[in-house]
Amino acid sequence: MSSKNQKKNILKVGIIGTGGRGINAFGSYLATRKDAELAALCDPNPVRMEAAAKRLNRSMRLYPTVEKMIASEKLDAAVITSPDYCHEPNAVAALKGGINVLIDKPLATTVKGCQNIIAAAKKADKVVMMGFNLRHHAVLKRLKKIIDDGVLGRVFLIENREFYDGGRTYMSRWNRHYAKSGGLWIHKGSHDFDIFNWFLGFPKPVKVSAFAGVDVLTPKHIPFKVKPGIPVGPTCGQCPYKKICPDVYDLAETANGQWSDAAKKVDGYSKDLCMYTSDKDTHDNGIAIVEYENGVKASHMECFITSLSDRLYTVVGDRGQAEASLHHRTITVRPRWNGEVVTYQVPEESGGHGGADPSLANAFLETIKGRLKNQSTVEHGMWSTAIGQAAEISRRQSRMVAIKELFK
Ligand SMILES: NC(=O)c1ccc[n+]([C@@H]2O[C@H](COP(=O)([O-])OP(=O)(O)OC[C@H]3O[C@@H](n4cnc5c(N)ncnc54)[C@H](O)[C@@H]3O)[C@@H](O)[C@H]2O)c1
Repeated sequence: MSSKNQKKNILKVGIIGTGGRGINAFGSYLATRKDAELAALCDPNPVRMEAAAKRLNRSMRLYPTVEKMIASEKLDAAVITSPDYCHEPNAVAALKGGINVLIDKPLATTVKGCQNIIAAAKKADKVVMMGFNLRHHAVLKRLKKIIDDGVLGRVFLIENREFYDGGRTYMSRWNRHYAKSGGLWIHKGSHDFDIFNWFLGFPKPVKVSAFAGVDVLTPKHIPFKVKPGIPVGPTCGQCPYKKICPDVYDLAETANGQWSDAAKKVDGYSKDLCMYTSDKDTHDNGIAIVEYENGVKASHMECFITSLSDRLYTVVGDRGQAEASLHHRTITVRPRWNGEVVTYQVPEESGGHGGADPSLANAFLETIKGRLKNQSTVEHGMWSTAIGQAAEISRRQSRMVAIKELFK
């Protein structure tokens, strides 16, 4: 902590990656904290970064690289919200600079990348926390407590089904490329694989099988008649059919400049490519199943072709089962034998992802201050990436993948 801030006990924080997540979830939250100063931003795109600073309505130093930011600022911490493939170099650079780091999920896009971050974290001996915000969701915290209290007995089966309306927009931006996101089993599934690991108390996952495909977001499935000689896209903004397309991705944020044409000119990054005609090498729906060393079986379904946004969990033990809906904020517990079926309604919380985002950011600051123990470590990040990477290999190679293959 710099000496001036030390006196006031204010943590100086930088954000690495000033897009949607960096600004919506963390920048805006940090700006409300009296015990933290959002001191600097880092993004290779200066136009986007300036627009982000303007949006937060504060003056901050702006840097094109992590190394430059670390060299010029006396930061206490950084939050990494750059695209998944650059979590590894950014985290390693921040840790070399000796600061505390919150890394949004996934830790990295491969187990190897995670191991490199873990090695850097060991050397740095700082707080290095995973941005697993779902663990901060009140419904899942309550369900975790039900499991830990033994209400369900010995858990042997878990299922999650994720339906995400906004997920179709992954096909409009970098997430659609395996090289940038590690595929959606890692980019998106890593949330749910972490929840499985967390619910179960972190047994080692041993085997994974997965099936996935692009079944709807292809040119063949454009949901309206395309006139001869008048093609769709290439972006929603340019598309002659934008008024009739039910999937138009309206960049409401354009006005604040983060996604302006000027920002796009710098790096060519379009956030609203046509989700039907964009080139993509990940899936729009799929199912992955995992077996753990203790025999527990878990299945995760993800579907981005839906009007519904919900995560539906079922946890089964030898004394009962529980079903949870994040959207409805309910948990129903059914005892196996005699006993009352109880449905809990979990109160609403304010903030992104049902209140989970501010809770995560708060936990990071409190952990740096030594008031909380780090509950989501880089090792946890690696295990969820490992399941996602194994699922990706499984679906591409049509075979069951042993997790140990990834550690050779
Ligand atoms: N936990 C969650 O619920 C959640 C939700 C959304 C996104 N995320 C994660 O947040 C991260 C950012 O996603 P997003 O949706 O905000 O993406 P985005 O495209 O909106 O923003 C990414 C930003 O990173 C910048 N960038 C590109 N290369 C960079 C580099 N090498 N170093 C620093 N910045 C770089 C881009 O210019 C852009 O400003 C991803 O890792 C994603 O998986 C997490």
